[in-house]
Amino acid sequence: MNIILFGAPGAGKGTQSSLLIERSGMKQISTGDLFRAAIKNKTDLGLKAQGFMDKGQLVPDDVVIGMVEEVLKSGVRNFILDGFPRTVAQGEALDQLLKNMSLSIGRAIFLEVPMNVLEERLTGRRVCKGCGTVYHIQSKPSRVPGVCDVCGNEVVQRNDDKPEVIRTRLQTYADYTAPLKDFYRNSGKFVSIDGDRGPEAVFEEILGLVK
Ligand code: AP5
Repeated sequence: MNIILFGAPGAGKGTQSSLLIERSGMKQISTGDLFRAAIKNKTDLGLKAQGFMDKGQLVPDDVVIGMVEEVLKSGVRNFILDGFPRTVAQGEALDQLLKNMSLSIGRAIFLEVPMNVLEERLTGRRVCKGCGTVYHIQSKPSRVPGVCDVCGNEVVQRNDDKPEVIRTRLQTYADYTAPLKDFYRNSGKFVSIDGDRGPEAVFEEILGLVK
């Protein structure tokens, strides 16, 4: 099954995608990760995206849609769309892309998490510069502070996890992404789940939905 996992910044989309990859063999298409890789590799796409991301704004729809189209055309199936779509225009473009490729989405799963919890998760998040493993200074610290348990690289704060950028990202979410809930409610594929529980409890519920 192909699914959409969506929710506010810090809702746990990346955390749940990692569990789905590891335990159910699904493949993640994370637009945020694709942009971060492009920035690291200093590609044209990365140059286009960086200014928007550093300010907590959305990358323009045409850039994101073009990137996702390329990934879908590469033949990936049984996928999790993480962080896409993020605007109603992206949702409409995705419908068209899927139709053209005779593909479909089984579920659009929304992770519901209260605002104060989102802020705490984002300010405390740390990520490995090498392999991208995600930590949290309180709920999931690395064994040695600042060092990745998996690959030994440095563990740092994301540029867009600084307090002033977090505020913009949460506002951007409220303005542009929250309306997607109605978009998917109307499609009959929408499921809202309580994301304010431990990662394992959230995962069990998602697994039940994708089986
Ligand atoms: P992106 O990377 O997609 O960021 P985001 O949507 O803001 O989501 P996050 O990665 O911040 O959070 P998450 O939900 O994955 O949470 P996580 O699992 O890490 O996008 C970044 C930027 O790229 C955007 O701002 C935009 O500029 C651009 N972009 C990307 N897609 C775009 C698009 N479609 N259109 C336009 N622009 C786009 O968890 C967060 C923390 O909480 C971690 O520390 C984790 O350990 C902890 N945690 C997770 N789950 C739990 C839990 N259940 N209990 C306790 N702690 C938990």
